[in-house]
Amino acid sequence: MDPMLNIATRAARAAGDYIVRQLDRVDTLKITPKGRNDFVSEVDRKAEDEIVNILRKAYPTHGFLGEEGGRHGGPRAEYTWVIDPLDGTTNFLHGFPQFAVSIALLFKGKLECGVIYDPVRQELFTAKRGGGAALNSRRLRVTRQNGFKGALLGTGFPFKDQRHNDAYFAMFRELMKDTAGIRRAGSAALDLAWVACGRLDGFWEIGLMPWDLAAGVLLIQEAGGIVTDFENGDKFLETGNVLTANPRLHALMEEAIRPHVTDALRYTPPVSENPV
Ligand code: IPD
Ligand code: CA
Ligand code: CA
Repeated sequence: MDPMLNIATRAARAAGDYIVRQLDRVDTLKITPKGRNDFVSEVDRKAEDEIVNILRKAYPTHGFLGEEGGRHGGPRAEYTWVIDPLDGTTNFLHGFPQFAVSIALLFKGKLECGVIYDPVRQELFTAKRGGGAALNSRRLRVTRQNGFKGALLGTGFPFKDQRHNDAYFAMFRELMKDTAGIRRAGSAALDLAWVACGRLDGFWEIGLMPWDLAAGVLLIQEAGGIVTDFENGDKFLETGNVLTANPRLHALMEEAIRPHVTDALRYTPPVSENPV
């Protein structure tokens, strides 16, 4: 295995195993609200510390962008690790077994490798740019679903910031019309990994952060899928708006949501406001 992917895997497993060990004491955890419907627990913080310690020991000059720790290390580093130590915190805090650790590496702003670890199912998703994507060493491909009929889509509700509710539910209504079903499982990282491995045919969500997306995006790209923002562009890490599927289904989804993309959704924050 590629050495950087190997270290990322070790860090993801260490954090994931720690998180799972905390599952039976969720009711005693210290939980702090970060914003509307947005919580962080001591488990999120400790898991991120564990990941950063492992990565920093191996790569002391690299930079970090973590959900809990923000940007730190290697100020002019060409390599940046983008970390979501626990994606699906609300699920975790309810004992709802759908959450994951997500770690990606950017080289000069380009996705180089990514790992998503589901510690409940002990499923390890890995991707390396140009080297394909795998689930526990099995090569991944997105589905060949070429129409809405029979398609299973994933999504996330914009519950933290409800400004885009009208646009979101208009998209939902449109996509629900002809598909077999829509799932909202509560961990964007796993949703993306599940598109890469074919459990979902497509996925869309508004307002995600780079740490929710980075590893999953590379997994899907390496599994033959298309990932865009809502305007068919590549500004998903900047806008947080993501639309993904195999090429044929992606085109159909894009056409379906296009009439509902508002100016507010098109807005890309200036570089200074954006962590990537
Ligand atoms: C959240 C999950 C969720 C998505 C939210 C994310 P967190 O991440 O990925 O599925 O809908 O937008 O913030 O806060 O549990 O790491
Ligand atoms: Ca997250
Ligand atoms: Ca998180």
